[in-house]
Amino acid sequence: MDIKLPYFDMILDAIARNDRPTIDAFGTHVHWGYWADPKQADGSIADFAIAAQRLSECVYEAAQIQDGDRVLDAGCGFGGTTACLNERYHDLRITGLNIDQRQLDRAATLVTPAHNNTIDWVCANACELPFEGHSFDRILAVECIFHFPSREQFLREVKRVLKPGGTLALSDFTLQPITVPLFKFLSLFSNGSVERLYGDVGSTDFTIPAYERLAKTIGLAIETNRDITCNTLPTYPILKQICRQFELTEAESVAAGQELVSTFGLVRYVVLSFRTLTV
Ligand SMILES: C[S@@+](CC[C@H](N)C(=O)[O-])C[C@H]1O[C@@H](n2cnc3c(N)ncnc32)[C@H](O)[C@@H]1O
Repeated sequence: MDIKLPYFDMILDAIARNDRPTIDAFGTHVHWGYWADPKQADGSIADFAIAAQRLSECVYEAAQIQDGDRVLDAGCGFGGTTACLNERYHDLRITGLNIDQRQLDRAATLVTPAHNNTIDWVCANACELPFEGHSFDRILAVECIFHFPSREQFLREVKRVLKPGGTLALSDFTLQPITVPLFKFLSLFSNGSVERLYGDVGSTDFTIPAYERLAKTIGLAIETNRDITCNTLPTYPILKQICRQFELTEAESVAAGQELVSTFGLVRYVVLSFRTLTV
């Protein structure tokens, strides 16, 4: 299985051209930013880069990582979250996993193990994890589960490879249950612009009750359910600014649409954590 997402092609091209704004915005973390006080966002790329690191912190803090843990960073991108863990903790055994070898190659050049941590990079599909059962204490999936072929299959794999009592933390875009029919209706008129930018985001119609039902079936319990939509909103002006710089008119419209549905709370940005149930 080889998935190359269009926006990563664009980012990798820009990195190859040594385009400074793209490298500063998306050269390490490829996800939204988190601002504790969104009014303090200053609209600069430097501010966004700090906010992107904070978003990673929100996710791994929800996983309650401890020194000495074995951690899987699923859908690790360029290894931004792994880099943060490597700076903050000791004696971790971290595996960064991605379906796209090009991203792993960059990650390996960006992150040097420190503090007696070990890091390895594995190219694989997050829905077919190439690990023995009960291998990991913590699993992270920062802003990537909607790309995976199936949320259910990923969560089943997580349950299999987590040790008893282990934790998964992720961030995801979810719909309010009441808006699911509206989005299904609107998708009938889609012109494919979202897919042309983001690739396969086939499973974006997920809700918190759907997560609760799925977790229960699989033997996971939701521990954290944190809606940080408001804290991520300053991401959109940055996205639009970068699209304008490259005259990516269609991508700018997609970002404007995402900003609209997020501002009105139709799509929510959430941090979730799950603990394995032993029975
Ligand atoms: C929005 S990026 C997030 C990257 C990284 N977690 C971060 O926060 O910087 C989504 C990531 O999911 C990865 N991905 C998509 N489908 C995948 C799959 N089936 N298995 C593993 N990784 C996948 C992409 O290659 C990409 O790195």
